Amino acid sequence: MNITTISDDIFKLSVSLENVLFEGIWEIPRGVSVNSYIVKGEKIALVDGVCGWDGVPEHLFEMLDQMNMKIDDVDYLIINHMEPDHSGWLEDLRSIKANLNIICTKPAEQLLEAFYGRVDNIRVVKDGDTLDLGNGRILTFATVPNVHWPDAMVTYDTMTKTLFSCDVFGTYGYIEGKHFDEDLTEEELVIFEEEGVRYYSNIVATFSDFTKKALDKLKDIEIKVVAPGHGLVWRKNPSKIIDDYKRYAAYQKDPDLHEVTVLYGSMYGMTEKAVQHIIESLKNYDVKVNVHRVPETSWGTILASVWNSPVVILAMPTYEYKMFPPMAAILEELGNKKVHNRKALRIGSYGWSGGAQKELDEIMKHKGMKWTFVEPVEFKGAAAQSDYQKMDEGIIELMEMIGVSDTAVTV
Ligand SMILES: Cc1cc2nc3c(=O)[nH]c(=O)nc-3n(C[C@H](O)[C@H](O)[C@H](O)COP(=O)(O)O)c2cc1C
Ligand SMILES: [Fe+2]
Ligand SMILES: [Fe+2]
Repeated sequence: MNITTISDDIFKLSVSLENVLFEGIWEIPRGVSVNSYIVKGEKIALVDGVCGWDGVPEHLFEMLDQMNMKIDDVDYLIINHMEPDHSGWLEDLRSIKANLNIICTKPAEQLLEAFYGRVDNIRVVKDGDTLDLGNGRILTFATVPNVHWPDAMVTYDTMTKTLFSCDVFGTYGYIEGKHFDEDLTEEELVIFEEEGVRYYSNIVATFSDFTKKALDKLKDIEIKVVAPGHGLVWRKNPSKIIDDYKRYAAYQKDPDLHEVTVLYGSMYGMTEKAVQHIIESLKNYDVKVNVHRVPETSWGTILASVWNSPVVILAMPTYEYKMFPPMAAILEELGNKKVHNRKALRIGSYGWSGGAQKELDEIMKHKGMKWTFVEPVEFKGAAAQSDYQKMDEGIIELMEMIGVSDTAVTV
């Protein structure tokens, strides 16, 4: 729990969440911060809400205490986004200060009622509306629908050109004492790249088209500071996180990286043995290889990995006339997250009838994933030498598709 000065009269209040599953699903090995901001003119606005996973406002009150403020001093509560990681304590807050002036979008107003009952003193804002806090501090608002819920908007301080962007430009990851991009070492910046992809692929991925629209809308605004609801405040190089988000949105269809994800499941090791062969073969190429086993690896980790990988190798046996079930589950989720256009090879063992391939084809079709598959390699029981040969041919094809040559044969 901490208070950080962003600029004159703008403060970040944040808590870091650890040892929970974000949204009840996603593991966050490096935690995540939830940030809110105090913006002072003559009047004071609180932008979004610091919320512990318990949803209680105590964290917020303690921090206001440390700033010699009370909740009564807050004139406006700006709700950029109604998701309870930013607004969960609202009910408690209103019981303490019933006449709180709330600023939000029309869809947020409806969500407020659905989640917290009737809420008074709401001012509904739309694109370009302003809030004058006095002393020259004027805030403006821009809606960013579906990043991440229909109600989302961003708030912009025209005085300091700070964008309070809530989920947009958010990342997972929390490093004690590091609040700004300028605080980070090169290694820590790499960590935040990983945590950015993890957050984006887990939380925002499905809404990539909306994200592109939001980025387009924001491109004409001069942004000197990006102050999101999760992760770092980007002050030294705000365009870094903006460009990162453009990249992440583009990865939905075309990750421009030399990276391969090998995703596999196996009951008795027949498929796994073939996976070992594939991993060995991939060592001949200048690609980063991520290997994940299901169901052992969490969905969040797999999603982040596949988000970065133009090539995916799927290996799973047949199980009761269908695909090994945890593989089907994660593939459905990759479909839901709109992971499109990957180049892929499927291999796997079967005993008598097969069936995994059929289900894979069905998932690809009904999720509209548009993956390009090279010839699958299915084998009865253990893979034979000729199967290994076919796998290697498939790998050569895939590597050619992404312009990677075999380092072992290059002169
Ligand atoms: C619970 C179970 C269900 C299976 N169902 C099928 C099936 O419906 N059709 C089939 O061809 N093989 C089926 N098999 C056989 C497996 O696909 C075969 O043993 C394969 O080699 C397993 O690969 P693995 O060693 O990588 O797990 C089943 C095996 C198990 C253990
Ligand atoms: Fe959200
Ligand atoms: Fe959020």
